[in-house]
Amino acid sequence: MSDLTRLDATLDQVWYHLACGAAEPDAPARNLVLATVGVDGGAEARMVVLRGADRGAGTLTVHTDAASAKVAEIAATPQATLLVWDPLARLQIRLRARVTSRAGTEEEWSAIGDGARAVYGGTPPPGFAIARPEAHEAAPDPARFTVLTARIEEIETLHLGQDRHRRAVFRRTEGFHGTWRAP
Ligand SMILES: Cc1cc2nc3c(=O)[nH]c(=O)nc-3n(C[C@H](O)[C@H](O)[C@H](O)COP(=O)(O)O)c2cc1C
Repeated sequence: MSDLTRLDATLDQVWYHLACGAAEPDAPARNLVLATVGVDGGAEARMVVLRGADRGAGTLTVHTDAASAKVAEIAATPQATLLVWDPLARLQIRLRARVTSRAGTEEEWSAIGDGARAVYGGTPPPGFAIARPEAHEAAPDPARFTVLTARIEEIETLHLGQDRHRRAVFRRTEGFHGTWRAP
């Protein structure tokens, strides 16, 4: 059991959970909420799969379809938040980030399975009105395969401990040196 009464151990736990999420399908951080600013200024949120976590660079990787709304939203407003809840650790992790998108490489396209490829592409594009679900035709399209890189600017944790709640903030501008906050 990790010691979430210490700031350094709390940050280690965050990256441990993110590394597990990127590597293991059943890890709590495998599916994160990605919240963005909608093109009309409203708040948007959806689940995404965590594909990579790099503690050295302080970045996370997510795969998506270039035609999905989130890509246009990020192009207009790169600030986004990723949210994780680990029920066993009783730890909420809020990750405030600047997100950029780029085309996935051939190597990345080859590395994902057939099932995953099928969700990048298709007609009509995501979000378009269709008469019935069968009116969408899947067509894996490497040109629509997009990689989102979230450069984490701030990590905020909330640990629901048995004795007390512990909230902390770690900022990139402060070298991810953490400070405690009132919960
Ligand atoms: C568990 C789960 C995981 C998902 N993972 C992804 C993902 O990795 N990438 C993605 O683009 N959409 C993923 N989706 C679908 C999105 O939540 C969303 O419905 C879709 O991307 C369209 O979002 P948008 O219109 O806001 O861009 C996932 C949905 C669920 C329920």
